[in-house]
Amino acid sequence: MAQKLEHVVLAYSGGLDTSVAIPWIKEQYGAEVTTLTVDVGQEGELGDAIDRATRNGAKGALFVDAKESFATEFLLPAIKANALYQGVYPLSTALARPLIVRHLVAAAQQVKADTVAHGCTGKGNDQVRFDVGVQTLAPHLHIVAPVREWNMNRPDEILYAREHGLAIHVKPESPYSVDENLWGRSVEGGCLEDAATAPPEEVFQWTGHPDTWPSEPQDVTIGFESGVPVSLDGKALPLVALIQELNATAGKHGVGRIDHVEDRVVGIKSRETYECPAAITLILAHQALEALVLPRDVRSVKTPLEQRWGELVYGGSWYTPLREALSAFIEKTQETVAGEVTVRLFQGSARVVGRKSAYSLLAKELATYERTSTFPQEAAEGFIHLYGLANRLAYVRQREAQSAHAGGAGEVAPSPVPEPSSS
Ligand code: ARG
Repeated sequence: MAQKLEHVVLAYSGGLDTSVAIPWIKEQYGAEVTTLTVDVGQEGELGDAIDRATRNGAKGALFVDAKESFATEFLLPAIKANALYQGVYPLSTALARPLIVRHLVAAAQQVKADTVAHGCTGKGNDQVRFDVGVQTLAPHLHIVAPVREWNMNRPDEILYAREHGLAIHVKPESPYSVDENLWGRSVEGGCLEDAATAPPEEVFQWTGHPDTWPSEPQDVTIGFESGVPVSLDGKALPLVALIQELNATAGKHGVGRIDHVEDRVVGIKSRETYECPAAITLILAHQALEALVLPRDVRSVKTPLEQRWGELVYGGSWYTPLREALSAFIEKTQETVAGEVTVRLFQGSARVVGRKSAYSLLAKELATYERTSTFPQEAAEGFIHLYGLANRLAYVRQREAQSAHAGGAGEVAPSPVPEPSSS
């Protein structure tokens, strides 16, 4: 037996790995096990999974419906940050981890456990997110990661489950590793590991078969207040319901499929596929609204910070001063992000086709090419004159210095700053 532990709270999904982990932890560490299942909007039968936990030897099985806090505390900041890791992945799995960690730590306190456990492998990002999160929020807790520690593959796990008389729910053999929540569905492994080959249709569940994608486009209008999506086609909706509805609508049109070679925290590149219909549609709409209402300099500072925000979340750095500081900046930028954006969904693509806002900085009287324009064109010439001044000077000086150097000439008086001839 390894180190003796007293009581372990196990983050439990009901899948094979975490089912087998219950007796395994008891055997290895002589500890009691309480399971914790956190509902972050994954589909499937959680009730049955939770029943099985106690039948399989857990002392207790805790359950938290965290959809609401997942949406408001984690997905909203991600929308405001237009968060896409490496420009494409809306961080669906990554965003749920710090929330699950928070509940894991709270459950450990509730049942007076000395240890928490998770079912992550030793190659992925999720182990980093769990471990770093727990070590930050509750450094006194031990962490056990059975799948990282044991040497079992799937057939071994099934055998182990049989030997221990476990009630398991072995789905038809699937070669894929799947993770799901409100913000998306990620699928990796199996034939997807060959990055050169198209993902087979069987990996997609939220986006239907291309044969079923409607042959007519559908426009959806998303209303925002202070960066928060608040309505769909004019109907006010709480965030969880809005995301669920958009997952269904955009998913029906095949929107949100992502096929990506991704850089993991541990240094590996891996081929990942995702289905994130609502996330992709909402971020696209939010970006379009920001383009309309944010001043140019705010946008240019915000964009690289968004990328940094996404990298922090991807790398498990949710509970950090930098992530919080960036979120505070981003929050401040959202005051005027209010209005409506229309997105056209069609055959796997989402495209913004309209936007409006009371805070719009698109002033028609300035931008129009019609006679009604109030833009002072006569001021443009002087503006450009000064705008180009510094580089005009640099250009001339560089060439003078080079030719003086080449000709070996002594000191030559610099020519005056070149003035463009005005028309
Ligand atoms: N690569 C993604 C991430 O690190 C998704 C990982 C999801 N895990 C899974 N078992 N499919 O956030």
